[in-house]
Amino acid sequence: MLIRTMTLDDMDFFVSQCLRECWAVAPSWLETHLAHDPDGCFLVEVDGHSIGMMTTTCYRQTGWMGNRIIDSAWRGKGVGTQLLRHGFDYLRGLGIKTIRVESEETSIRQCHQLEFEDELRSPRMLYQGGPPAPGKEVAELTTDNFGEIAALDAEVFGDDRMRFLELMLKMSDGAWKAHRPTGDVCGFIMRLPMMNCLMIGPCVAEDPETASDLIRRALQKVDDKPVVASIPGTNTAGLELHRSLGFRFGGPCLRQRWGPSEIGASKLDNIFALATGAAG
Ligand SMILES: CC(C)(COP(=O)(O)OP(=O)(O)OC[C@H]1O[C@@H](n2cnc3c(N)ncnc32)[C@H](O)[C@@H]1OP(=O)(O)O)[C@@H](O)C(=O)NCCC(=O)NCCS
Repeated sequence: MLIRTMTLDDMDFFVSQCLRECWAVAPSWLETHLAHDPDGCFLVEVDGHSIGMMTTTCYRQTGWMGNRIIDSAWRGKGVGTQLLRHGFDYLRGLGIKTIRVESEETSIRQCHQLEFEDELRSPRMLYQGGPPAPGKEVAELTTDNFGEIAALDAEVFGDDRMRFLELMLKMSDGAWKAHRPTGDVCGFIMRLPMMNCLMIGPCVAEDPETASDLIRRALQKVDDKPVVASIPGTNTAGLELHRSLGFRFGGPCLRQRWGPSEIGASKLDNIFALATGAAG
């Protein structure tokens, strides 16, 4: 068994594994991960056949692990645990002190074995239906003045992930920002077209009203495609907002953390959609 770095040549494997698991996926996701962490995306091979994969994402202070899938025929043989350890050691080798992962039930015990602690529930929410009534008007988010978006995000998310957000903006088919009357930006959202759905996130906002305006905007012109989002389960006002807009529970997820909690501690009440299950 060989664990090597992934390349764009592994696209078919990446996409087919995600589709089989019914995860939101598009080729642009792997492109984004490879552009951001070219040495941190891993593929498992046996006799030249791909059997597993995962990504790691390294921000300024924190690391994330995600997209871990072992081909069904190879499960229960220790491969997934070995891959998790590989990603963990890679991030630790970069000097990362706090690592987080959004775990499905299948992954929770394996992370406990690496001494990850449970941090919070981060449920997936699912929306299907026509557009809701629009909220207050919000502005298009472009690369212009992107520094103000990155600064707001860093304050709320707890780490600098500007480059990852720039790559996500390139993937998006719409992104919007809200301003206070004084002109300062007070929230933003991105919408990403996937092969099997639309994904909204990140959505960062100073209050639920601002988040409502942004999410309502992102839900216009979705053409009845399913829309997925994940949200910190501790943000009860955010969950209430999602439900009031017509989102329903789409599946459980548990954020787990290794290392000091204060590194990359987010202001969770201001996060109305995660960027992605794989990278916070
Ligand atoms: C989660 C996933 C990656 C695990 O991969 P895997 O190769 O089956 O993982 P392992 O074989 O290392 O471990 C699976 C179980 O088998 C056990 N195991 C480990 N080595 C083993 C071995 N040599 N023989 C038998 N069982 C073994 C582990 O203890 C583990 O049990 P646990 O989860 O109850 O703790 C895989 O199930 C998968 O791709 N699932 C679908 C996608 C998914 O859910 N990804 C995780 C999202 S967060």
